[in-house]
Amino acid sequence: MKKAFITGVAGQDGSYLSEYLLKKGYEVHGLVRRNSVPENQSSRLDFINKNFHTHYGDLLDEGGLNKLISELMPDEIYNLAAQSHVRISFDIPQFTAKTNAIGVLNMLEAFRLNAPNARFYQASSSEMFGISVDSDGFQRETTPFIPVSPYGCAKVFGFNISNNYKKAYNLHIVNGILFNHESPRRGSNFVTNKVVKTAVEIKMGLRKRLELGNMDSYRDWGHSKDYVRAMHMILNNDKPDNYVVATGKTFSVREMVEYVFGKLNLDFNKYVFQNPKYLRPEELPYLKGDSSKLRNNFDWKPEYTFETMLDEMIVFWNNELG
Ligand code: GDD
Repeated sequence: MKKAFITGVAGQDGSYLSEYLLKKGYEVHGLVRRNSVPENQSSRLDFINKNFHTHYGDLLDEGGLNKLISELMPDEIYNLAAQSHVRISFDIPQFTAKTNAIGVLNMLEAFRLNAPNARFYQASSSEMFGISVDSDGFQRETTPFIPVSPYGCAKVFGFNISNNYKKAYNLHIVNGILFNHESPRRGSNFVTNKVVKTAVEIKMGLRKRLELGNMDSYRDWGHSKDYVRAMHMILNNDKPDNYVVATGKTFSVREMVEYVFGKLNLDFNKYVFQNPKYLRPEELPYLKGDSSKLRNNFDWKPEYTFETMLDEMIVFWNNELG
C-alpha cells in the first residue's frame, strides 16, 4: 500500500486529492493546522475512512515536519498548504512569504533529510506569471514570471527552490503550475463561490446585493477534481518535470457573474455593486493557460467545462441553503 502525505489536506484540493488517492488504495496522511473552531478543520474531510489520518502541524514548524516525515516515511509528498488568498496576501505579506516561500523550504528540508526516496509535488500557481503573457495570449511553462502580489512573489520562491533542490540533490521533485480551479468546496471568499453562494441567496430572498472588486479581470477557471488527477499523474511520471494545468479558456469575472445570475433568471445589473475594499493594490488582469505539455505527455483533459463547474456549484448552494 502506497503512503501519501498531504499538507493543506483540509483545503479544497487536499480533500479532493485525498479522496482520489484513497480510491486508488493509498494510505493518506494529512497535515492540519490547529484552529480553535474544529469544524473549520474537518468540514471538507467527512469521507474519512480507515486509511485516512490527520496530524496537527504547520509549515513553519520545522521540528514538527521533520518528526512527522521521519515517522511516516511517505512514498509521495504533496505540498499544498499555503496562505492561498491573493488579496489577503497584501494585508499579511510577511506571513504569506513565510508560509508560501520558507514553508516550502522547510518541507523540502524535511523531505531531503528524512525521506529522500519519496516523490515531492509542489503546488505552484499561475499567479507566478503575473502580468506576463506570450504574444499568442497564453501562459505556458516557458513564460517568464512577473508576479504582481506578495502571494505570487512567494510562490516564485517556492518554484525556484524546489527546482534547485531537484538538481542539487538529485531528488524527484515536480511542480504543477495550476491555473484557478474551483468547486463547491472552494472557500466562499474566492470569487466564483462568493458569486454563486450570494446569487443563490439573492434568489431565495435572503440577501439584496453582491459586492465585488474588479470585474474586468480574466481567469482560466477549471475544476479542482480534474486538477488533482493531474497532480497525481505529474508526480507519478518517472521523469520529474513541471507542467501547466489549465483549461485554455478564459472568461472575465463579469462574464462569470452574468452566467451565474442568468442561470437563476436574475439580471445581475440590479444586484451587483463594486466595493473598493475588494480591489487589490495591484491586479493580475489576464490568465489563459496552455497545458499542451501536460496533454501531450499524459492522458489528461478536463472533464468539467466552465459552465458545468458553475452549474454544480449552483446545485450545491441550492441544496445547502434550500
Ligand atoms: N476573491 C475575490 N473577491 N475576488 C474578486 C472579487 C471579490 O469580491 N471581486 C472581483 N474579484 C476578482 C479578483 O480581483 C481576481 O481578479 C479574480 O476575481 C479572481 O480572484 P480569486 O477568486 O480570489 O482568485 P485569484 O485569481 O486571486 O487566486 C486564485 O487562483 C490562483 C491561481 O492563479 C487562488 O486560488 C490562488 O491561491 C491561486 O494560486
